[in-house]
Amino acid sequence: MDIEPLSIGRIGEVIDLVSTGAPYLTARTWSDYWAYATLFSSTCPLAVDGARVVGSVVAFRSQDQPGDIYVQDVVTDPGHRRQGITRALLDTVAGRGREWGCRRLYLTSEPGNRTAHAAWTALGFTNVVGDRSFGDISAVTDYKGPGRTRAVYELSLS
Ligand SMILES: CC(C)(COP(=O)(O)OP(=O)(O)OC[C@H]1O[C@@H](n2cnc3c(N)ncnc32)[C@H](O)[C@@H]1OP(=O)(O)O)[C@@H](O)C(=O)NCCC(=O)NCCS
Repeated sequence: MDIEPLSIGRIGEVIDLVSTGAPYLTARTWSDYWAYATLFSSTCPLAVDGARVVGSVVAFRSQDQPGDIYVQDVVTDPGHRRQGITRALLDTVAGRGREWGCRRLYLTSEPGNRTAHAAWTALGFTNVVGDRSFGDISAVTDYKGPGRTRAVYELSLS
């Protein structure tokens, strides 16, 4: 398994891969991935097995809060899950964040995404306490705008 930065030549594969993350993920547009590949590639690592992309993380360092790196999308090919791919990709992003002196990674997921919750907590993220609960998952009402309630997670880099 190799890890490489997102590149323009891989965009079609990444769109196909992200589509396998339904119903929790929807592929962004080609133009979005072009921007990620040309402006943010060092925090957008891919896992490549042979010639095939089997994992993707899209993350950005905040310009408003430079100590923060926001992880936007995480997906592993269904046939490659539970093999440590997300762990390796998020480690890559965390390592870059530490080089920059960032203080945390953070991300959100839908409160019903129990697999994601299991992954984030296993990887050391804390579920930030919100204003409502879905079983043992805490969420923030309308975090991303009306109707977009999300569970929020953070990982300290210090
Ligand atoms: C969530 C997701 C990205 C995890 O990717 P992954 O590559 O399988 O994760 P890893 O193999 O690195 O798992 C790391 C740890 O998370 C936990 N974990 C991951 N998937 C789990 C599951 N289905 N059930 C319970 N624990 C799980 C485990 O503790 C695992 O370590 P272990 O296998 O040594 O026990 C993957 O399931 C996925 O692509 N889901 C669909 C898209 C999605 O929901 N993305 C998140 C939306 S924000």
